[in-house]
Amino acid sequence: MSSSFIENLHVKEMRQFKELNVSFNKGFNFISGPNGCGKTSILAGIAHCFDHSGFQYSSLNENSEFWTDLTIAGEKKRVGIGKNSIQNAGYRKSSIKSWEPPLHEEQRESIKIHEVKQKLKQFCPLFIGTNRNIKYQQISGMQREAALDEQLNRRLSSGAQSLYGDSQINIKQWFVNRYFMIDKDWALEERKNWVHMVNNLSSLGPFHSNFRYVRTGKELEPIFSIYNSECFLEELSAGFQAVLSIIANIFEWIESTKPEGSRDASTAEGTVLIDELDLHLHPEWQFTLRDGLEKIFPKLQFIVTTHSPHLLASARENEVIIMAKNEYEDKYSLEPSALRFSGWNTDQILSEIMGVKSLDNKDYEKLINLAFQEIENKSLAGLELAIDNLKKVCHPNDSILTVLNARFASMLAVSDD
Ligand SMILES: Nc1ncnc2c1ncn2[C@@H]1O[C@H](COP(=O)(O)OP(=O)(O)OP(=O)(O)O)[C@@H](O)[C@H]1O
Ligand SMILES: [Mg+2]
Repeated sequence: MSSSFIENLHVKEMRQFKELNVSFNKGFNFISGPNGCGKTSILAGIAHCFDHSGFQYSSLNENSEFWTDLTIAGEKKRVGIGKNSIQNAGYRKSSIKSWEPPLHEEQRESIKIHEVKQKLKQFCPLFIGTNRNIKYQQISGMQREAALDEQLNRRLSSGAQSLYGDSQINIKQWFVNRYFMIDKDWALEERKNWVHMVNNLSSLGPFHSNFRYVRTGKELEPIFSIYNSECFLEELSAGFQAVLSIIANIFEWIESTKPEGSRDASTAEGTVLIDELDLHLHPEWQFTLRDGLEKIFPKLQFIVTTHSPHLLASARENEVIIMAKNEYEDKYSLEPSALRFSGWNTDQILSEIMGVKSLDNKDYEKLINLAFQEIENKSLAGLELAIDNLKKVCHPNDSILTVLNARFASMLAVSDD
């Protein structure tokens, strides 16, 4: 397991949060909760701890304070700012008044946001927002990849922008560059990563899709194959584009922000934060994505938000962070749940974990209630009708349907006596 990761986030007076404390697991973290409860805001809060140029994305004031605790190669660090650092001059106009340090903790180095580029170079998290479609653009050749320092500076000052889709890498250029460089003797790590990606791409796709990279032709259009038919990068369906865009983004980030010698994707460490990981994905894919990501990037920490009960069902112990909307007081203290939900069905996850209340109104629930009422009323005809209607909406092997059929049979037998 990783020795560099985000331990927790502390926030006061940011956006809707009066106070928020979240701790994270070193591996996967799936943040789940209803629309508007503040999932994306957690990711934005982390982004603000590393970069003040994104402050316009959140409303802040002079009482705002926020920091992230990190372990980097075994050393404890705290990065962020304390109270009285910010002045608020209106919507999207918060600025820095003075650099107050975050609350001191014994044996933890305190780093203020403007010191990040100098003191935290070895830790630059990757933020991936919800914009995942790949638009067509013509690539004319290999493009020089910027030097490490330049890339780090760019990444470190665009966390919040990336989260809100205002800054994107050119995935196609990344593929075309690989086509030109991977057989060069100076591209050892890039070649290793390329082979690793190509070999593992199919583990990410849904069963039988046989998702593959095929080749890049002389017109510089990367070609893929799904369900054994070839297609160009931009022709891939939204689900495949979404996954490919995440994977290529992570490879590009590893190769551009880690020093030479630590760019191997199978051992690289660091934190990747993704808003709505399940976006555009078929349920079958949502079940397999966690393990596919782990296979390709086994040492990375993932902090992702999701609305998918299937992703939650794929999570292990200590990987699901459940966030309910606090109606009265915007104070939150969150940590990964020790439970594992793989044995829960989708309805149970939706209602008990994700807080979906309207399930009670579903036809299915209503018809079941009606059927049990008919049993209580001892109405054979009523029960028969309720079962017939239930059959139209439920799975043929539904366990409650089986129970109701048995009750009907026994009521029928009694009435025949
Ligand atoms: N810049 C901002 N300033 C103040 N409050 C904000 C700001 N951005 C968002 N909020 C508040 O935060 C709430 C939660 O927003 P957020 O985007 O974090 O929700 P979410 O859990 O990601 O929801 P969804 O599932 O719909 O993406 C919003 O309803 C809004 O009240
Ligand atoms: Mg959101």
